[in-house]
Amino acid sequence: MNTSALPRHVAIIMDGNGRWAKKNALRVALGHRKGVEALRAIIRESSDIGIEALSLYAFSTENWRRSPEEVEALMGLLLEYFTNEIDELDENRVCIRILGDKDGMPEKQREALIKAEERTKNNTGLKLNIAINYGSRAELARAARILAEKAVRGEIRPGDITEQALADELYTKGLPDVDLLIRTSGEMRLSNFLLYQCAYAEFVFPTVLWPDFDLAAYHEALDAFGSRDRRFGGRKT
Ligand code: IPE
Ligand code: IPE
Ligand code: MG
Repeated sequence: MNTSALPRHVAIIMDGNGRWAKKNALRVALGHRKGVEALRAIIRESSDIGIEALSLYAFSTENWRRSPEEVEALMGLLLEYFTNEIDELDENRVCIRILGDKDGMPEKQREALIKAEERTKNNTGLKLNIAINYGSRAELARAARILAEKAVRGEIRPGDITEQALADELYTKGLPDVDLLIRTSGEMRLSNFLLYQCAYAEFVFPTVLWPDFDLAAYHEALDAFGSRDRRFGGRKT
């Protein structure tokens, strides 16, 4: 792996748990459980190789449309994850930030998310952003609302609403833009993830299902990023 051209900010749409379960004749909840296992190794590796920020799509605002059984299984896993992993993440100086509407989460999960953020907020290692009850459009509408409220209160003028002012009201405030977006399972869409932050991201779409996404697959994606020619609209010579 060429570490000289590492992305600062990697975003991952962890997709394919359902298909993995089906392929292995297992219940969907077991696919999600296996997905959490894959996650552990990717977080550790990101931390070890010096990725600055890692943003993971764990649950979208649209995922509430799934069956009550599947939603319940996902909520259970989430709680389990934050209970079991928090010590190790904290020891590794990982700083956790939740992207999304925590108030729309069930009480226990909401408390666990707030606690994880609170406990790790001063950590100086990997910035681990976990998108839960997250939708990019909702995030942008929320930012617009916050700015409008400030304007109504007379704190800002419409002319103060710059790209930076908008970015500062997103959940990702202060983070660099996404450099590399990985979506597993072969689907090639954003599904309402980090639309604003991915303006100049490089996209990689490995066909492997998320529970099978291992370090070799991660390195392959990072290598693909390293070989991209990023121009940001400009022209080199
Ligand atoms: C992604 O896997 C995990 C979540 C959306 C929580 P899926 O459950 O979407 O897997 P597929 O797309 O059905 O295979
Ligand atoms: C996106 O995957 C959300 C997460 C991975 C958490 P989905 O499986 O929900 O997206 P669609 O429905 O295929 O677009
Ligand atoms: Mg899916």
